[in-house]
Parts: sequence; C-alpha cells; structure tokens
Amino acid sequence: MTTTRPETAEAVLAAIRSRRVVRAMTDEPVSREALETVLDAGRWAPTAGNRHLQRFVVTDDPATLRVLRMVSPGMIQRPAAAITICTDRPRAAAFGFPPDAPGLHVDVGTAAATLLLAAHAIGLGAGPVTSFSRAAVAVVLRLPEGWVPELVVCLGHPAPGAPAPMRGGPRLTWRDLTTWMP
Ligand SMILES: Cc1cc2nc3c(=O)[nH]c(=O)nc-3n(C[C@H](O)[C@H](O)[C@H](O)COP(=O)(O)O)c2cc1C
Repeated sequence: MTTTRPETAEAVLAAIRSRRVVRAMTDEPVSREALETVLDAGRWAPTAGNRHLQRFVVTDDPATLRVLRMVSPGMIQRPAAAITICTDRPRAAAFGFPPDAPGLHVDVGTAAATLLLAAHAIGLGAGPVTSFSRAAVAVVLRLPEGWVPELVVCLGHPAPGAPAPMRGGPRLTWRDLTTWMP
C-alpha cells in the first residue's frame, strides 16, 4: 500500500471540506486542458465490479448549453461547460446488471463526487444537477441508444461575490452522521 504524505493528506482534506456547489459562474470559457484534467480524475472513481459502466458526455458549446438549460429546471447556473454522466445500459446488461441494480446509481454518485472535487481542486466552480428531462437531454446531446443521462456536472469559473450556496440546514457533524457498533 502506498502511504500519503501528511501535507498531501491535509491538502486533500482541505479540498473536501471547502468544496461547495457553485451556482453563479462567469462567461469565461473553461479550457480544454482543465476539462481534460477533471475528466481524467473521473476515471479513478470507484465503480461496482470495476466495470466502468458510466460515460462522460462533455459540451462547451454555448448553443447546446443554452438548450440543455431549457430542459433542466435544476440548472440554476449558466455553465461554460457541462459533463453529463450517462449509464451505458446495454453494456451494464451485458455484464449482468439489472436496470435497477443499486451499483449503477452508486457509480453515478462516485463519479459525480470525484468530478466535483477535481474541478474544485483546480479552481473551477462546479455543481451537480439531476433535475432535468432525461428524454430531452438524450436528444439535445444526441446520446447513443441506451445511454441514460443521470447527472449533469456544470462547470465554470466562479463569479465573484456570488450568493452563498443553498442550505437545507446546518452542516451535520460526523458524530451526527455516525453510529458506532459496540
Ligand atoms: C444527487 C444530487 C442531485 C442534486 N441536484 C441538484 C440540482 O438539480 N440543482 C442544484 O442546484 N443542486 C443540486 N444538487 C446540489 C445540492 O443541492 C448540494 O450538494 C447541497 O445543497 C449541499 O451543498 P454543498 O454541496 O455546496 O455543500 C444535487 C446534489 C446531489 C447529491
């Protein structure tokens, strides 16, 4: 097992703690290099059975992004780029995953968390969106048959003086979230 140097561990933990959903973004484009850095991080997310059944569909085309927003009520931000995490259903079926297999949904979450954190680590703002019409997004992005769009990661440069992120309640402590078994 490789060990993590203490300063690296502290940097990773600081990034985890400071990442917040960004819903106000500037018009500045996101460079191809930055997008590739985020996408490369995504392939390191853990996946059920190590099968990698998700696919990342990227767009930074302003016209496509505009239409994407129109079919995504949950997309409050005007992103400069978006990565749509899709599940490749035919591929999943070929590996024996039924459509309702929990692992397929969990994999979307691990990919999303990894992309969000990677974006934050390189100074981009990012926010997940699941409130969208799956059928419409499939058409807008011209997805191959059987690819289901599950979550869109919006990307952009955070707008200065943006409003504070949405809060559903106070951030729980790890003690609130944890039960120790005797
Ligand atoms: C599965 C999932 C779906 C989400 N969908 C949306 C969405 O459609 N629109 C949105 O603005 N935020 C969405 N969010 C972001 C949450 O609202 C956000 O993570 C939460 O308010 C906590 O904020 P924080 O991540 O900045 O701590 C989603 C988050 C998750 C995990």
